[in-house]
Amino acid sequence: MNSDDVEILVSQVTNSTKMDANLLQQFIESVASHKIELGAVEKWLRAVHANGISVEETSQLTKGMMHSGEVISWLDNSLVVDKHSTGGVGDKMSLMLAPILAACGLKVPMLAGRGLGHTGGTIDKLESIPGFNCSLSPVEMKKQVEEISCCIAAQNDAIAPADGLLYAIRDVTDTIDSLPLITASIISKKAAEGLGALVLDVKCGAAAFMQRQSDAEDLAKSMVGAAKRLGINTVAQITQMDYPIGRFVGNSLEVLGSIKVLQNNGSADTLEIVSFQCQELLVMTKLADSPELAREMISGVLADGTALEKFKQMCVYQGVRPDIAQQLVQEPEIVLPQSAMVTEIKSEESGYVSEIDAMALAVIARRHGAGRFAIDDSIIPEIGFEILPNRGDYISEGEVWLAFHHNDDIDEDTMIELNQAIHLSGKPIQQTGRLISKIS
Ligand code: URA
Repeated sequence: MNSDDVEILVSQVTNSTKMDANLLQQFIESVASHKIELGAVEKWLRAVHANGISVEETSQLTKGMMHSGEVISWLDNSLVVDKHSTGGVGDKMSLMLAPILAACGLKVPMLAGRGLGHTGGTIDKLESIPGFNCSLSPVEMKKQVEEISCCIAAQNDAIAPADGLLYAIRDVTDTIDSLPLITASIISKKAAEGLGALVLDVKCGAAAFMQRQSDAEDLAKSMVGAAKRLGINTVAQITQMDYPIGRFVGNSLEVLGSIKVLQNNGSADTLEIVSFQCQELLVMTKLADSPELAREMISGVLADGTALEKFKQMCVYQGVRPDIAQQLVQEPEIVLPQSAMVTEIKSEESGYVSEIDAMALAVIARRHGAGRFAIDDSIIPEIGFEILPNRGDYISEGEVWLAFHHNDDIDEDTMIELNQAIHLSGKPIQQTGRLISKIS
């Protein structure tokens, strides 16, 4: 596609007239095959970012991007499901959701990403398990899901390749935060898995990309609309993201926290969120007649060890030695990488824990190697935090509230930031759940 054709699309977007459908389709194909000038793509992205596009155009863009690569097809996709989260601190849900749902009878061909900004990525977390291979082709994903009902693979060039280039250019042109572009990017990849049902977790709060509830709901509506137009039964849950999720933050530490949940011995907060998502999908696919029955199914596969066994099976299918996978699910601390130092942070006062600043912890962990600053940075899997009190717990002055797993020395400024990351109240805290609202 030549630059003049892109110019037509750019002026249509700028003048808020409908983009020519054939030109838009050619544009997507040229982006996917990299047969287009990068400057022209950049111009188009800037125009969409500045002016927005209609719901119908977003839908066409999403569908075009979905079909720019392979689409996994299933004989019957009514039980084929997945979840997407917009990213949180300590958000380890995918690691548990896939094996729990597989153990309940659903199929989960999950594509996942690496860490983005201050939030961790499922692929980075899984790769902290020795031998775990996330590089699966669509054919390998399908085969594994047919055999054991779940897989978690890294996004790759075979699936929605148009997104690969668009995302990379958005990243360097400051055009990431555009509703239609986020919608098309996320939903095109999920739709390429051939799903029957999808649950979206749209995080909202100080440590989320969307800080205001109205922005989170607008994004949720846009994604739900685009996915439904592609025939995927979709529900979005808006969930609170100020306080870190569960007890563990950091790549290998979140694997540890996930295994504890699968051992039926994990944090109640983590279990609450993953249960919402699993419950929604079990009801949407009619595998459960009610949320209560879905809840019983989830409790059942956690209590009898079948979800943990599924996780182990997934590890072995994806390259982990069987003896290591066995030890991982029994004694995860022995298998997972450990930091050189663990520093305990003590509370300077007494009181009820009203807030723990998830953003502050994420920023510190990233600085110590848990996250990336540039796309080709490597991460240090063992860096992170263990948070000891739950929100609302009473802690006394001198009591340890945080264990920082780190390899480099902690400087004075970081120590001050850590001490300021906890907020205490003199009065008991009113407990609130994570779920803020639902869009369907
Ligand atoms: N994740 C994606 O895959 N795409 C976006 O645009 C944002 C988050």
